[in-house]
Amino acid sequence: MAGPGAAPALLRPATADDVEFIHATERGPGFERLTAQWSRDEHRAALARSDTRYLVGGRPGRGSEGFAILQPLADPHEGTKLKRICVAVPGDGFGAPFLAALIDWTFAQTASERFWLDVFTHNERARHVYRRAGLREDGLLRQAYRMPDGSRADRCIMSVLRGEWRR
Ligand SMILES: CC(C)(COP(=O)(O)OP(=O)(O)OC[C@H]1O[C@@H](n2cnc3c(N)ncnc32)[C@H](O)[C@@H]1OP(=O)(O)O)[C@@H](O)C(=O)NCCC(=O)NCCS
Repeated sequence: MAGPGAAPALLRPATADDVEFIHATERGPGFERLTAQWSRDEHRAALARSDTRYLVGGRPGRGSEGFAILQPLADPHEGTKLKRICVAVPGDGFGAPFLAALIDWTFAQTASERFWLDVFTHNERARHVYRRAGLREDGLLRQAYRMPDGSRADRCIMSVLRGEWRR
């Protein structure tokens, strides 16, 4: 959860005009070890899917600071998956309020009972932000991702339930 006094994150739906920002933000330094990276065409195709929502976020007066992909948007069983989240300037305090705003948005705008994601176990910064927001670790997918260099990575499933989400 964002700390007391943290500037709130404002959200807006992404459009095709945001694809350059999304594509560039996904390619921050070292991000290839932390998140999947799609081509511009893959993003354009995903933007058009009815089971997918792209949201761009930023603090007041700061423009676009990050983006998130919710996919599936509202599965009746698994709920809403945070498929991707990336900020343009990591460590600048935006990720925490952005995540909180995304969870708020999910429970306000969808019927999902669950907000979840998977994160590489080596991504300690993201795991810290998720834990601090109140997400719990549901389990481990061992060696369940082939990294660009051919090595294997573990993925941790984390979630927060509608009834657990208090701000
Ligand atoms: C993950 C991400 C969205 C978080 O956003 P952010 O703006 O960097 O996060 P914040 O600045 O709000 O907070 C970072 C927190 O991590 C902590 N942190 C930084 N490096 C850390 C590390 N190596 N290990 C543990 N905690 C770390 C900071 O101290 C801070 O915690 P605090 O607020 O309790 O002091 C962002 O770093 C990002 O886009 N990373 C690259 C892509 C990525 O990893 N996406 C997630 C894939 S699942």
